[in-house]
Amino acid sequence: MIVYLNGEFLPLDEARVPVLDRGFIFADGVYEVIPVYGGRLFRLPEHLQRLENSLKSIKLQNPLTRQQWIEALEIVVARNSGDDQSVYLQVTRGPAKRNHNFPEPVVPTVFIMSEPLEAQPPSGGVKAVTCADTRWQRCDIKSIALLANVLLRQQAVEVGAAEAILIREGYVMEGAASNVFVVVDGVAITPPKSQYILPGITRDLVVEAMLAAELACREADISEAQLRSADEIWVTSSTREIVPVIMLDDKPVGNGQPGAVWSQVWKIYQDYKQHLRSIG
Ligand code: PDD
Repeated sequence: MIVYLNGEFLPLDEARVPVLDRGFIFADGVYEVIPVYGGRLFRLPEHLQRLENSLKSIKLQNPLTRQQWIEALEIVVARNSGDDQSVYLQVTRGPAKRNHNFPEPVVPTVFIMSEPLEAQPPSGGVKAVTCADTRWQRCDIKSIALLANVLLRQQAVEVGAAEAILIREGYVMEGAASNVFVVVDGVAITPPKSQYILPGITRDLVVEAMLAAELACREADISEAQLRSADEIWVTSSTREIVPVIMLDDKPVGNGQPGAVWSQVWKIYQDYKQHLRSIG
């Protein structure tokens, strides 16, 4: 695997960062995960905009111009095998003597890697569990400080579930590493953007695609009771796409099978990817 580190392209096992990097010491940094289909970076302007927003929120100047990001990302994609990949990028506040306040000057660390993206077969559905949302109040920042998300996902995995659905004050927020949709009376609903959820690129695409296809979709609060009585539940992310949840806390969702609305939206998403590959 060829990675990018601070302006250089090199094999992964030759990439080194100092142990005093603030990413390592404080988790002081942000990241993005961008899927690549047919060698093309999926929704790249949206990912770079979200990165810009995250950096702004943590008061870290973007170390690269948009054009420099595009060039570095495209080189990493070209140097790694596979038409479908998952690109990970991370920017930290760089190495400095350990001290909570920002160092002066800041020398950020910029890292990009890419892994093969496994084809997502039409999902037969997964299990999910509900958990209290123990995270902070700036979940809109794509922060590398993911300990709460890690513990929540692990809690799900330990009971044989694929995702933890997070509840804050009686309302559904998102998954440990995904956004959430429910279908109630034929209408797909996803929570509105706020500081309590990550503005998912896949989420936005689903909302956009459903509206374009004249399928009913709304952004609205989802109560825990609505979640538990929903006909369908889906979780969305760049790496897993759109996955139907068929069991929630060991009770079947709807009829316990992937739902009809999910299968329409899944098809639209596959066509969208195929289109991207064909124009590659
Ligand atoms: N995570 N919410 C959280 C907390 C996430 O971590 C993610 C994705 C999403 C979905 O966002 P998107 O559709 O832009 O991937 C929502 C990535 C995949 C990760 O951490 O690996």
